[in-house]
Amino acid sequence: MGSTDRNRSTDDIQRERAVEDALAKLDLAAKAALLAGADMWSLPANPDIGLGRLVMSDGPAGVRGESWSPDDPSIAVPSPTALAATWDLDLARRTGALLAQEARRKGAHVVLAPTVNLHRSPRGGRHFEAYSEDPLLTGEVGAALVRGVQEGGVATTPKHWVANDSETERYTVDVRVDERTLRELYLAPFEAIVRKARPWGLMAAYNQVNGVGMCENDRLNNGVLREEWGFDGVLVSDWTGARDTVRDALGGLDIAMPGPATVYGEHLVAAVRDGRVPEQAVDALARRVLLLAARVGLLEGAPAAVTAAPEPLDGEALAREVAARSFTLLRNDGVLPLDPGPGSVALIGASANQARIGGGGSAQVFPTRVVGLLEGLRSALPASTALGYAVGADPAVRLAPIAEPATAELLGAGDTLLGTAELPDGGVRWLGQLPGRIGFDELCAVRVRTELRPRTTGLHRLAVRGQGRFRLEAGGRPLFDGEVRYEGTDPAGAFLNPPEAVFELELLSTEPVRLTLRHDLPPDSGFAGFGLVSFALGHAEPAATADRLLDEAVALAAATDVAVVVVGTTEEVESEGVDRAGLALPGRQDELVRRVAAVNPRTVVVVNAGAPVLMPWREDVSAVLLTWFPGQEAGAALGEVLTGVREPGGRLPTTWPAEEGDCPVWEVQPVDGRLAYDEGLFTGYPAWQRRAGAAPAYWFGHGLGYTAWEYEGLDVRLCEADAAAGPYAARAEAVVRVRNTGARAGRETVQVYLAPDGSDRSRPDRRLAGFAVVEAGPGETAEARVELPLRAFQTWGEQGWELRPGGYTVEAARSAADLRLAAALTLPPQD
Ligand code: BGC
Repeated sequence: MGSTDRNRSTDDIQRERAVEDALAKLDLAAKAALLAGADMWSLPANPDIGLGRLVMSDGPAGVRGESWSPDDPSIAVPSPTALAATWDLDLARRTGALLAQEARRKGAHVVLAPTVNLHRSPRGGRHFEAYSEDPLLTGEVGAALVRGVQEGGVATTPKHWVANDSETERYTVDVRVDERTLRELYLAPFEAIVRKARPWGLMAAYNQVNGVGMCENDRLNNGVLREEWGFDGVLVSDWTGARDTVRDALGGLDIAMPGPATVYGEHLVAAVRDGRVPEQAVDALARRVLLLAARVGLLEGAPAAVTAAPEPLDGEALAREVAARSFTLLRNDGVLPLDPGPGSVALIGASANQARIGGGGSAQVFPTRVVGLLEGLRSALPASTALGYAVGADPAVRLAPIAEPATAELLGAGDTLLGTAELPDGGVRWLGQLPGRIGFDELCAVRVRTELRPRTTGLHRLAVRGQGRFRLEAGGRPLFDGEVRYEGTDPAGAFLNPPEAVFELELLSTEPVRLTLRHDLPPDSGFAGFGLVSFALGHAEPAATADRLLDEAVALAAATDVAVVVVGTTEEVESEGVDRAGLALPGRQDELVRRVAAVNPRTVVVVNAGAPVLMPWREDVSAVLLTWFPGQEAGAALGEVLTGVREPGGRLPTTWPAEEGDCPVWEVQPVDGRLAYDEGLFTGYPAWQRRAGAAPAYWFGHGLGYTAWEYEGLDVRLCEADAAAGPYAARAEAVVRVRNTGARAGRETVQVYLAPDGSDRSRPDRRLAGFAVVEAGPGETAEARVELPLRAFQTWGEQGWELRPGGYTVEAARSAADLRLAAALTLPPQD
């Protein structure tokens, strides 16, 4: 809802006045300067009007700050798929509060989150970074997160507005989607967030929708978002997404990021001067940027939206709580919880030792520490339980940066030393700015020096990861002197998914070796106008052959009471910038699970992936526990959940297929630049429910706890119609009574679906209309009160949103396919 005189507070009025006063003092050039990134992450200050430098930071799974490297660590929370799997809005809000706390600590005023695109095809490369296939769940979790962040006085930019649901040709793809589908699915989470949580920003996507780029989409930006929904925040471009001065300015794009080279600034001044853009349009953009600055406390004379310091939060404890609540138990024959502790446990899998805590790309953050799975399980199991470890199968394709401190020398022309930087490992990642404020134009080469202390004698592997010219020396001897090339087409691909060259070296554990990696920068180093240096020196200790690793793991599993096999995706599989080729687990992990399960009847498989993978062995193991990308407290949460200290609280936010060929929506490759959303409303569980034959492996909403629940009663009633209360006001209420029939206390996620009576093939059979999480002790009952919003009874038609009066079935369920109770409800015709 737009602000009306009735609901504007004194602070709002004072803020607006301060904004108008500041605007009146600016000439055209100064206004245009406000709209263009000064560098990679900030908008410029203007001391003349008391305006501070406004800093933005990624992102959805932690706040990285202005540097993209481990030297500025952050709390790494679980992946957004995990947060959505909690279905817990209080937890989402607290996670938002933590992001605000982190942003404040790092001097950031805007968090570039949450990602609220939908899981359309399971191949979407950023699936892990978005919430769900369902628009209601996505909107609810997104709104809760936005509230949490903004209550901490920090702005958000729900992204990527809109229909940015896959990565192939992501900068240019033209998504073709009909208006009803756009409204009911892809715009729906944004609308819920804008109307309910009033974000102070939104990020315009790279892609086009029906032929018009999202940075210049006047109809969606100015029409739908601002006029219809009353959005009063800023619209910021996705990085490098602003491409046309005039169309963007008229299309309602307020901020072009990053800088300093943008289509705004002096280009916008010129466009006004020669009459292509009216100055009032620039005023409207500048006004919104000043309002944002005022809200986050950067404009003198304007009260910040939040003045009281928020309550401090324990970030590690919260990251652990979210992780455990998100872990989704898909199957359990009673082996879990491991209670009391078994005599011996085998922990197997490469990521059991090196957990994959987050997905790749701009959502990446660097935690101070990670609680590994081995460490977490060791401290959770009784001391009397023997715990063994075996790699089993290592699907990683790339080598990790060498785990030794290193020194980077920044070299200018003629190899003059411009400065040095200490690195925690062998990775270099400088974006937009260099250590010591050295200018990108001065920098010609970077030389990384470190010392490798081999743990084992044998054939070590060293890797050069990056693009361009490199020279690698070990103990003064050259190992490589040449070019490493990126073969893909994504302009940011060499940074997000760099190529790698690997070299072997025989080493003795008694003899440390000096390593030097020199990288000569190409003359046009950087990405779309901002400076970028990104490469790494990778290393791997000698490893047994793949067959040997498997044999060792199987032998260990055969000799223990319980085998816990951790399988998952790799950074090549789940990352921004690329879509997935398929859903099979990489490497020989399926073989590993099968062989372990064949020798140990108590095999628990832990799936460490941010998005669906195929699990062809799922019926042959005792339990399957999905941990998503669990963030920095991975092992601590796993230890607690496996041993039953905490119950796994997750429910799938997206349907998991059994076979690739069954997926209702698979294709992400545009044809002639266009990606047609021809399936319309039928994505996710509604699409699966329309298909004869193919059932998924696990349905949307599915997940087990450690207790059992009986659904005992469902009462539904209509709430009074109040058109003025907006589309999210309750139009009906369902009260669901559930009994904990198990032996321990637990939590239940009660889902309420709404199914229109009669056969209307144009709309899904049922859709999630509300949900609530309840708790109860053994034998106790709990009551879930679930409000069903007016919007759940509406469809988009010729006249806009139209109420569908008549009969409905309200269903109380444990998943989209596990319906427990049903009740009839009749919606009277609109008066
Ligand atoms: C991503 C955004 C991100 C931005 C800044 C873009 O490539 O799509 O989600 O916020 O980079 O890192």
